[in-house]
Amino acid sequence: MTIFSGIQPTGNITIGNYLGAIKNWVEMQKTENGCIFCIVDSHAITVPQDPNILKEAILTTLAAYIASGIDAEKSIVYNQSKVHQHTELAWIFNCITPIGWLNRMTQFKDKAGKNKEKASAGLYTYPVLMAADILLFHADKVPVGEDQKQHVELARDIAGAFNRRFDVEYFSMPEFITNKTTTRIMSLRDGTKKMSKSDPSDMSRINLTDDNDTISKKIRKATTDSIEGIYFDEEQRPEVSNLINIYAAFTGKSIAAIVEHFTSKQNNEFKQELIDIIIAEIQPIREKIIKLRQHDDHLKEILGKNAEKAGLLAEKTIQEVRDLVGFL
Ligand code: TYM
Repeated sequence: MTIFSGIQPTGNITIGNYLGAIKNWVEMQKTENGCIFCIVDSHAITVPQDPNILKEAILTTLAAYIASGIDAEKSIVYNQSKVHQHTELAWIFNCITPIGWLNRMTQFKDKAGKNKEKASAGLYTYPVLMAADILLFHADKVPVGEDQKQHVELARDIAGAFNRRFDVEYFSMPEFITNKTTTRIMSLRDGTKKMSKSDPSDMSRINLTDDNDTISKKIRKATTDSIEGIYFDEEQRPEVSNLINIYAAFTGKSIAAIVEHFTSKQNNEFKQELIDIIIAEIQPIREKIIKLRQHDDHLKEILGKNAEKAGLLAEKTIQEVRDLVGFL
């Protein structure tokens, strides 16, 4: 079985990325040998990036993968731009993807905002490159957060369009997989908005590189409401429900069990326990990230070696695709 997923090396990796994606990858890696975890730097440049910051972010993302438990010997871990077949396949897919399908993509609408005319063509065709990432390796499963569901569905549509166009059964359908307990971690400032590495407010998220005091401060200051008691109601109490969700995702406990545990307790007791739980898991990860970043040459070597492995698999697919398309 082949599993493929990726994270953009932009900003700080948050507990949203960790709980929605990485934690799940670490679980899957325990039983599966065919895991490929990419650092999608070609996706990152669909919006402007400072070149020096991008280089740093690629290394920190790799460090975060390894520090969280991804094994770069067992799984393939590399940055996308090193394997040129991603963009080659994306071009071919661009030529079979109707514009109407891209117009439906909600992430483009969110990211381009009011300035649609000024957004890059790359941002618009972003989901096509994502389909190429997944199909280049004939991935069976794609473990991501809920926000990427529409993109994985598009990858399935593109696989179907390719097969129909060339009258083959070449690409099979990749499956969207999400964390059992949590699919969506929300902002700590606004429970109706996704926690995001690109949110201008750092108080809206917890980064894997935050120190203990910062984690503590961010949870203590997290928006809640004035309703008594701790209970789960995403409609009426989105912020409190989000904190319960985070608690559930870190501990693996059910929402019902958590609510029961806090029935007669105060908001501040709940927050203090949540802080302790987050720190217990994030502190060792942060410390490993810092250690790994002291040996950037080693990290670059890991990227190089793994890109070679990925390149071999990718080349096989691209050769077959070239032949099907009619290239000599
Ligand atoms: P990106 O970099 O935005 O996010 C990386 C992963 O983290 C998940 N995630 C969240 N999960 C729960 N709650 C949140 N608040 C939250 N924020 C982010 C995302 O769902 C994702 O799994 N397009 C992708 C990267 C990508 C990719 C791929 C993924 C490119 N090619 C191929 C899978 C397969 C993205 O922007 O992720």
